[in-house]
Amino acid sequence: MTTLNIVILAAGRGQRMHSDKPKVLHSLAGRPLLQHVLDTAVQFATGITCVVYGHGGEAVPQAMTKYEADFVLQEPQLGTGHAVQQALSHLKDDTLTLVLYGDVPLTQPGTLEKMLGAQQALTLLTIHLDNPAGYGRIVRDSAGNVSCIVEEKDATTEQRAIHEVNTGILAVSTHLLRNWLSKLRNNNVQGEYYLTDIIAMAVAQGVAVHTVQPAHEWEVVGVNSKAQLAELERTWQYEQAHQLLVHGVTLADPARLEVRGKLVCGRDVEIDVGCIFEGDVYLGNGVRVGAYSVIKGTRIGANTYIEPYSHIDQVNIGDNCRIGPYARLRPGSKLHNDVHIGNFVEVKNSEIATSSKANHLSYIGDSSVGSRVNIGAGTITCNYDGANKHRTIIEDDVFIGSNTQLVAPVKIGRGATIGAGSTITSDAPEGELTLSRAKQITLPGWRRPSKKNNIPQ
Ligand code: UD1
Ligand code: CA
Repeated sequence: MTTLNIVILAAGRGQRMHSDKPKVLHSLAGRPLLQHVLDTAVQFATGITCVVYGHGGEAVPQAMTKYEADFVLQEPQLGTGHAVQQALSHLKDDTLTLVLYGDVPLTQPGTLEKMLGAQQALTLLTIHLDNPAGYGRIVRDSAGNVSCIVEEKDATTEQRAIHEVNTGILAVSTHLLRNWLSKLRNNNVQGEYYLTDIIAMAVAQGVAVHTVQPAHEWEVVGVNSKAQLAELERTWQYEQAHQLLVHGVTLADPARLEVRGKLVCGRDVEIDVGCIFEGDVYLGNGVRVGAYSVIKGTRIGANTYIEPYSHIDQVNIGDNCRIGPYARLRPGSKLHNDVHIGNFVEVKNSEIATSSKANHLSYIGDSSVGSRVNIGAGTITCNYDGANKHRTIIEDDVFIGSNTQLVAPVKIGRGATIGAGSTITSDAPEGELTLSRAKQITLPGWRRPSKKNNIPQ
């Protein structure tokens, strides 16, 4: 890949969002709009990436510190041409500059490759719209060559009837761009420096203007209001659901699935309604996910069944496990094959080996649990002493009776049994029954107190 300058315009006001947050920081599919554009840009960035920001001030660069991009302040905002001018000193001359918009989040890498592939001096991304209102129109001469772009506010009635519009995204030779931008004037209806005026300059100079179209309209849809944001979210969710269906995933309802990241599925995966997937999630062959589960940054092995209403965050789950309903698996946990985690069981930063079960109402935190362990209902690890966290070790083939408290640090030896209702504060030996329960007694003849009458109130 050759080097490339990328300029992302993100200084605009976003007045119609009616929000104190800069427009480009509003989220689509779980990521700020600008982050979508930067994530696309990094796939090309072997050169300079420059973000022009303005409205919302430092909030924009502060939210994007993980990207290796230059942030350039445009203050005041005098138009798209003026915005690109602010970035010029950062750009390398002997390469193309790709201009993207921070509020147009879904332009696909394939479309940009198509624009950059031919290494033309000037390529515009254009699209034919049934309703072109609000966009700059692509004006072509009788031979069909682009002669200029005219903004709607400056357009004649005939020009307004043109359906081919400027998406705003373009690729241009940097040294030509530099030259053209230096000649921009703001003698138009809006009194702005229009980037689009460079097209007529190119034509006057005999530079051919190429055009490329995106594969989908949603790739060039910009966000100006909460309504447009919600609409684009639905479009994108539908698109992702459709991709999963094409791949063979069974979706109970493609309209009731949220993918806020990257979901990769094996064969014969089934997903019920209302599930949310965040970050990178992998579902192995034959995985079933029950209704209203939330799964983030997690890998799930083959034929595991996640029952409804489970919440799983950064966990590695093996094959043939059964999780939920109403299970909560928290970061740093690893479940090997054939593990059962039942209702109202919380697992945090723990490893649970093959064929172990915690089926009801438990908390397993900072623990290492061996194979074939049975953890009875209501058992909790007391991992926190108010200042520090400690580990609990439960070796293979242990049986923990119900309603046990394991006060860490503590180790339960291989094959041990813990009697129900115990509070275990020191290590329990292998193979033995250990319990700490008070002896059951009966008081013969004991009577329940009865209500006394003559006590003054
Ligand atoms: C622009 C195009 C228009 C195109 C449309 C596509 C120009 C003159 N017009 O119009 O042909 O059809 O986009 O949506 O380029 N921005 C800045 N600084 C500024 C002004 C804008 O960074 O001073 C940024 C905005 O944040 C936004 C983008 O540039 O991301 C486009 O700005 P916007 O005001 O929406 O341009 P339009 O008038 O819609
Ligand atoms: Ca716009």
